[in-house]
Amino acid sequence: MTDVQIFIDKIKNSQNMAVLTGAGVSAASGIPTFRGQAGLWKKYRPEELANPQAFRSHPDIVWEWYAWRRDLIRQVKPNLAHYALVEIEKKIPAFTLITQNVDNLHQLSGSINVVELHGNIMKSKCIDCNHPTSDNLNLKAGLPYCRSCGGLIRPDVVWYGEYLPMDALKKAQTAAMECDLFLSLGTSALVEPAASLPYLAKANGAFLVEINMEETPLSSQTDIFLIGQAEKIISEITHYL
Ligand code: OAD
Repeated sequence: MTDVQIFIDKIKNSQNMAVLTGAGVSAASGIPTFRGQAGLWKKYRPEELANPQAFRSHPDIVWEWYAWRRDLIRQVKPNLAHYALVEIEKKIPAFTLITQNVDNLHQLSGSINVVELHGNIMKSKCIDCNHPTSDNLNLKAGLPYCRSCGGLIRPDVVWYGEYLPMDALKKAQTAAMECDLFLSLGTSALVEPAASLPYLAKANGAFLVEINMEETPLSSQTDIFLIGQAEKIISEITHYL
C-alpha cells in the first residue's frame, strides 16, 4: 500500500480524528502564509509586529497591517482543502478541527467543530478591559477606543507573548490526547503551544500524518509525511472515503 492508501484506510477506520491547520491551508484562497517560500512576513519578523508592546507603541502601524489583512480576507473564499475537511468531518464519529488561522474560512466552508487557537481577525476587543466590541470599525477615521473604559481597541487575535484562550487550548489538548488519528495540515509546526499538539497526540497513541509543501521540524516524527499542496492531496483523498 502507498502512504496515501494507508492514510485513506486510517481515516475510514478512525473513531476520533483531530486536525491541526495552519496558514498553508488558506494559501490557495489567496491569503499569504507567514513563513515558508512565499511567506508574507519574510520582510518582518512576526514577533516584531504581533505583540502587545508593538501595538501600544505604534497602534497605527499595527492596525494598518490588520486592516489590510481584514480587507484581503473579506474578499477571499474557502478552497478545496477547507471543503475536504468538511467532508471528512461528516464521516468520522468524533472530529475536532484545531486551527491557528484567524480567517474564519473553516467556519465559512461548513466545518462544525472548530477550535480557534489564535482568535479571529474579524473580531476586536479592548486592550485594557478585554471588552469585545461589535462596532463596525472605521479605521480610516482614526484609532478606535473602547466605549466602556476608553482603552484602545485591538484585533481579537493572540499575539506573541500572550496566552492562548484557555478553553480553546484545553479543547485542543483534549482532542489531541483522545484522537486515534492526527493530521497536521499546512502549518510550519513552529509556534507553541500549537506545535506540541501533534507530539501530544502521538504520545497518546495516535497515528500521526503531516501534509505540507516542505519538510518541517515535525516531518521526521510522523508516521506518514505527504509532501505537496494541502488542497490537492486532501481533496483527492476525499474521493476515496
Ligand atoms: P506559517 O506561515 O508559519 O506556515 C505555513 C506552512 O504552510 C509552511 O510550512 C508552508 O510550507 C506550508 N504551506 C504553504 N502553502 C501550502 C499549501 N498549499 N499546502 C500545504 N502546505 C503549505 O503558518 P502557521 O504554521 O499557521 O500566529 O503559523 C503559525 C502561527 O504563526 C500563525 O497562526 C501566526 C504566526 O505567528 C499568530 O498570529 C498568533
